[in-house]
Amino acid sequence: MATAKPDTQKLLTELDDLLLKAKANIASTDSEEELDQERVRYTGRKSELTTILRGIKDLSDDGKKEVGARANEVKEKVLELVEKQSMVLRKKSVERASKEEELDVTLPGNKIPQGRRHIISQMQERTEEIFQRMGFDVVYPYEIDTDFNNFQAVNIPEGHPARDSWDTFWTEDGQIAITHTSAMQNRVLRSHEPPIRVVVPGRTFRHEATDARHEHTFFQVEGVYVDKGVTFADMLGTLQTFFSEFFGQKIGIKFSPDFFPFVEPGGMISIDVSGLGDSFMEISKGTGWLEILGCGMIHPRVLEMGGIDPNVYSGFAWGFGLERVVMPKFAIEDIRLIYKGDLDFVRQF
Ligand code: PHE
Repeated sequence: MATAKPDTQKLLTELDDLLLKAKANIASTDSEEELDQERVRYTGRKSELTTILRGIKDLSDDGKKEVGARANEVKEKVLELVEKQSMVLRKKSVERASKEEELDVTLPGNKIPQGRRHIISQMQERTEEIFQRMGFDVVYPYEIDTDFNNFQAVNIPEGHPARDSWDTFWTEDGQIAITHTSAMQNRVLRSHEPPIRVVVPGRTFRHEATDARHEHTFFQVEGVYVDKGVTFADMLGTLQTFFSEFFGQKIGIKFSPDFFPFVEPGGMISIDVSGLGDSFMEISKGTGWLEILGCGMIHPRVLEMGGIDPNVYSGFAWGFGLERVVMPKFAIEDIRLIYKGDLDFVRQF
């Protein structure tokens, strides 16, 4: 019985056809899974390629060589096509993912909004510079401090009715979020030798309802001045000089008596804002006077507790709210805006 002898040319043609088919099938795959099926189909152990090669044993030696070499070429070519298609599929899937996230990776990056020094920080710096030029050192308060420093050392013993003027946040272990920068007075007195000239700018905290004029967190600037023969007039002169520098024009000040347990005599100082523009006039309710700080001659007991002999030395202290001057200066009507963290607000200054 005559068997149809596969001739070389026939097998070579079959290989060419196989390659063409593989090319088309590989190019039309849509997933890595499909692609892998095609790879196995054309190059695996039970592949069509293997079937063709089965006929090789009946060929002449030259024919075997020729078809064998061609089969290898076809196999390599197929693997190459698979590799290329795999890259195409990967790229497609990245594009699909980014389209789903509506992310166009070819667009330039977004500009992240830049911050700006906060208006309170800028004015704190200005305050520090002015006082430093006047010979003051700057120290910063502890935001959490003891009952002793916040109250007792400034002559407000436990149970003293004056404590009611400073509604307080307490920590669980009985410390205080400082209600005023006066909490640093005792440390300042203890750590400096007269003449003492120190300002203490820092954040203070009060447990109270907020409104356009009140925040639970605000900024105070304390001043402590101690030397031999310091008088009330020195205090007025120091504060007047500061405010004139701060506002860039000569500022009048007015003292009205008031009570603070840590000063005697003590009172409030108002500044003459009649020359500072409409928003100042408005905030002073048309009077032209804006009350901005408490001050007075340091109480002898406070000096004593700070290790300073009140028979030899005298001094004055003050504490003013920085927002009190910043708000009218920049026509900010609501103190809560200052601490909202709104970038549009912050960037205005
Ligand atoms: N600590 C006072 C307050 O917060 C202000 C003050 C400071 C008054 C120093 C007198 C002397 O109200």
